[in-house]
Amino acid sequence: MIKPSKIYAILIVFLSGFFVSQAQERRDDYLSADFHQDRREQLRNIMPDNSVAVFFANPVRNRANDVDYVYHQDPNLYYLTGYKEPHAVLLIFKDNQTDEDGQTYNEIFFVQEKNPMAEMWTGRRMGDQGVKETLKINNAYNGSTFKDYNIDFSQFDKVMFYDFKNDVRDNASDQADLYSLQEQFKQKVGYVTDGNTLGKELPSRNIDLSELNTLMASLRGIKTPEEIDLLRKAVFISTVGQVEVMKAMKPGMSEFEIQGIHEYVFKKYGSEYEGYPSIVGAGNNGCILHYIENEKPMIESKEMILMDLGAEYHGYTADVTRTIPVDGEFSPEEKAIYDLVYKAQEEAIQMCRPGATFGEISAKARQIINEGLAELGIIENPDSRHMYYPHGLSHHIGLDVHDLGPYDMLRENMAITIEPGIYIPSGSKCDPKWWGIAVRIEDDILITKDGFELLSSFAPRTTEEIEKMMKQPSPLDDFQLPDLKGGK
Ligand code: GLY
Ligand code: MN
Ligand code: MN
Repeated sequence: MIKPSKIYAILIVFLSGFFVSQAQERRDDYLSADFHQDRREQLRNIMPDNSVAVFFANPVRNRANDVDYVYHQDPNLYYLTGYKEPHAVLLIFKDNQTDEDGQTYNEIFFVQEKNPMAEMWTGRRMGDQGVKETLKINNAYNGSTFKDYNIDFSQFDKVMFYDFKNDVRDNASDQADLYSLQEQFKQKVGYVTDGNTLGKELPSRNIDLSELNTLMASLRGIKTPEEIDLLRKAVFISTVGQVEVMKAMKPGMSEFEIQGIHEYVFKKYGSEYEGYPSIVGAGNNGCILHYIENEKPMIESKEMILMDLGAEYHGYTADVTRTIPVDGEFSPEEKAIYDLVYKAQEEAIQMCRPGATFGEISAKARQIINEGLAELGIIENPDSRHMYYPHGLSHHIGLDVHDLGPYDMLRENMAITIEPGIYIPSGSKCDPKWWGIAVRIEDDILITKDGFELLSSFAPRTTEEIEKMMKQPSPLDDFQLPDLKGGK
């Protein structure tokens, strides 16, 4: 028997847990304010003397009429601040500046003002106070003050920013929207439009439109432990999605449906988005490298399906491709192509270590594919020109799926893909038995002190492992929905 007083104590503990969990609005494994502050400090360290770096938020993109796309922050601004709202501009100064009150500062962040009416429609805003408290950026101001904030940009040797793409809509009633912030900035730095050059804008002398990207790439290309933790999660989630599809795959399913299974798994784990539009191509559709329609209604048993998907978890995106036989067994031709891609990928992965160059790893994978295609009689000889492997082998992953980073050599804590592929569209100049075969195997790799770690190992890669996984039962085996009723 438990005493009544104990029951009350248990109840209070239980209820307080209940209210705490009710109050928790979001997960707590985001990048920390300290991470962002350290990144700003690191950028300041590598900026040239007497310079300022300026970053704008991404624009809000219109989908149609009065509906916008889900907002996604500019990855550089997110990396440096953690701010996820639009209509903002960040200035980072190499050296301390002094304001009119004699206070010194080395960064300023202008952000969206709080506005209860607007927030009722389009969501919560941090406002300048929220940015100070949550993101710990002390010099935060509402965007409406940017226009009159006194900064003499002519005093700097370099004013660095990314060139404008002129794809920002003007909300004429808002003097602090991104359009206005950019126009005000152009005025301040003397970035003028030359009417004689079809609207091409001519920067003034101390403006630098290229160096900032090199600096950001050198930072973002090397991941910190906090970033690696999020990348690990994003990659793991994506591989679980691949595994669930391997188990659920049946002829007659649609490409949409396969995409939906992956993305359900992503959301179930708390991924906010896909890192890029999911690519799910059956048969010949797999030969279209960025096939994102995913609209084939009935996948056929004799086809393979190429699935290139990446969960985006708290900003960081995976990029994992698996290619599987729809009926659960590779045909001899499918296996021959698959094993060739696998061989190229495996050799490339084994070469990954600090000091190895992107160039030599890519060349090795290409050589293996060319020799293999010649052996199979698909091309005449290894030096024959062909389009069966038309893309690169590797890229950085991170806040962007094609992340910023240097492409000279591998360094510890780089996160990259290794992704060879062979695509033989119907009608190709080879034996028709190869037509419609498309294989890409894409894995995510962390470069370690003396080698690599395969982050995406949870999803089977060899033909044997895939066939075995496809025999496993799926929770979706018995999933039935009512027939779709229509007007006809
Ligand atoms: N998912 C795009 C790529 O593999 O690069
Ligand atoms: Mn990729
Ligand atoms: Mn990919």
